[in-house]
Amino acid sequence: MTRPPLAAIVLAAGRSTRMRSERPKVLHEVLGLPLVLHVVRAARDAGAERVVLVVSPEHREAVAAALAGEEGLDFAVQEEARGTAHAVLAARDALGGFRGTALVLMGDAPCVRPRSLEALLREHRARAARCSLLSGRLDDPRGYGRVVRGPDGDVTAIIEEKDADPATRALREVNTGTFALELPACWELLERVEPSPHTGELYLTDVVQLARASGARVHAEPAADPGDALGVNTRAQLAQVTATLRERINAEHMARGATIVDPRTTFIDARACLEEDVRIEPFTVIEGPCRVARGAVVGPFAHLRGEVEIGPGARVGNFVEVVRSRLGAGSRALHLAYVGDASLGDEVNVGAGTVFANWDGQRHRECEVGRGASLGANTVLVAPARLGAGARTGAGAVVVRTEVPPGDTFVGVPARSRSGAEGSEA
Ligand code: UD1
Ligand code: CA
Repeated sequence: MTRPPLAAIVLAAGRSTRMRSERPKVLHEVLGLPLVLHVVRAARDAGAERVVLVVSPEHREAVAAALAGEEGLDFAVQEEARGTAHAVLAARDALGGFRGTALVLMGDAPCVRPRSLEALLREHRARAARCSLLSGRLDDPRGYGRVVRGPDGDVTAIIEEKDADPATRALREVNTGTFALELPACWELLERVEPSPHTGELYLTDVVQLARASGARVHAEPAADPGDALGVNTRAQLAQVTATLRERINAEHMARGATIVDPRTTFIDARACLEEDVRIEPFTVIEGPCRVARGAVVGPFAHLRGEVEIGPGARVGNFVEVVRSRLGAGSRALHLAYVGDASLGDEVNVGAGTVFANWDGQRHRECEVGRGASLGANTVLVAPARLGAGARTGAGAVVVRTEVPPGDTFVGVPARSRSGAEGSEA
């Protein structure tokens, strides 16, 4: 069966005053990705062939730069933030004469999952609806638009909190902000939206009443997980969505065979990959597109950052930070170490307190440590430095931009071969 055409319009042009931030709200990051990128990816995964991102003129460049790697993304500028209905209309030119279903998504609601979008689209199509929306049931619905249903269960209106009376405020079913709209039919509905008497904004949510007035029924599909509804208007909500996405990511890794001893204290970047039988000990932060291979153990109190590769069976332990580095199979950095911009072969032992001094004051420099090498406690490797296979350093050695030959042992400050031979410039 061929699927009807699907586009997505992601709204990211609001003023975001409640964040009190210089940075556009939608670029605040959650587990490694800007808020809006979580949304764009969900739309793609749900089958949107084209995605139009609505941005403000002042943040256009910053948003485009942050999403530079994403293909097939179009930008539309909303000249003035006049409300969500106005923002959707700003995407009209970019969509040309698109005919089909458009998913409208809020760029500040990163928890919406592809499977919820798919459920919404399924119901929308099954009912041959013109306008449908995804709702969520929240214990604390404050700040969200409330979904008002008639006796037949159809939605009669969405009332924004600011415009709601106490009875409406007591409703716990909220508008997630995600809509499925048939285009071009809905352009005309959007054009008929009038400014709110309270805020002067043009609300997307008003299309519900307008659709009903034109005789169409409006379906609200409840999201399976209330977390899908969460939006970010404040820093407190940013923390809330971080917690939600963190739990989901951790649950996925566990389902795929990783042990996470304490998911509550484990932060894993949305881009990270963990193989089966990885074990993550408590208080671990994995930040960046890290890869942790089968049987490796990370933590407790470990921090991986940037592009990091932890080889099979390798171990990164207490108070160890690994940045833009690779640890080969069976290598160990178990206590109080900083490994930055380094490539470590298999079976390397990094002694307690070892530091890779990778910053020369101008730029990051690299170190290489060969297979089976062993760094004594409190070694400092001043980059660039190289240790050959099986090389060793004594406790407290400071290896300054030098190459340690395979099998040799360097000691002292600056470190020299214990056999008396000098190292050569690395
Ligand atoms: C909106 C919904 C509310 C819903 C909530 C879910 C409306 C009127 N209200 O409220 O029913 O419960 O989202 O999170 O739609 N934006 C623009 N241009 C504008 C205004 C906003 O692009 O002129 C963008 C914002 O950048 C943001 C999104 O639209 O990403 C939502 O705007 P926001 O002001 O946060 O709406 P809420 O008050 O949260
Ligand atoms: Ca919002």
